[in-house]
Amino acid sequence: MREAGKILAEIFEELKSSLKIGMTTGEVDACVEALINKRHVIAAFKGYRGYPACACLSVNEEVIHGIPGKRILKDGDIMGIDIGIIYKNYYSDMAMTVGMGTLEASIQKLLDVTRQALHRGIAEARPGNRLSNISNAVQVYVESKGFSVVRDFVGHGIGSRLHEDPEIPNYGKPGQGPVLQAGMVLAIEPMVNMGTWKTKTLEDGWTAVTVDKKHSAHFEHTIAITELGPEILTVE
Ligand code: MF3
Ligand code: CO
Repeated sequence: MREAGKILAEIFEELKSSLKIGMTTGEVDACVEALINKRHVIAAFKGYRGYPACACLSVNEEVIHGIPGKRILKDGDIMGIDIGIIYKNYYSDMAMTVGMGTLEASIQKLLDVTRQALHRGIAEARPGNRLSNISNAVQVYVESKGFSVVRDFVGHGIGSRLHEDPEIPNYGKPGQGPVLQAGMVLAIEPMVNMGTWKTKTLEDGWTAVTVDKKHSAHFEHTIAITELGPEILTVE
């Protein structure tokens, strides 16, 4: 899983350098597919419950599961990029939100807070803690910065399947749920909104958007719990 994580982080690094204003999200997905094929790994999302692409690409008010297509990336847009791969029958899952060109200060803050919220959650992923310590750390941090955490979607265990137990909400009281143990591997993935936490799913059956059309950001790492604490697997 360490290898699967490293390969996925490398895919993100290479993808970032090819993103340009004016591209469509469909073109970005084609880049992702080429990067996956180049490394001879398998796209985990394509065909998953009928999902039609390699990446989920979610622009501005889109929270997650945006289907790549004709939407053109403009200066000032943000785009959540979520990719999963399979390497030697093990999964890795990672997401980040990138800015195109120059971002409004409040939107830049949304990205910074969401990335930081992920790291606050990861810091709680150590043996002896309870699962909801992760959830609570994310929520407390995000709300202290004036944003809201999405409640309709969760992080998850990951291993020889993309989604394994437990579900990992990004909100909740601390000290609840299973006791964390070394050897567990989790995909922690806060989704943070500028306005209300409420989302709805579009007619395409996938794209989740904020109900108030305000911006949303998403960061995700696959992490392993070790005796020494959390180890991020989706790093180069
Ligand atoms: N990264 C998403 C998750 O963690 C998976 C996307 S669902 C898919 O649950 F259908 F697009 F694969
Ligand atoms: Co995930």
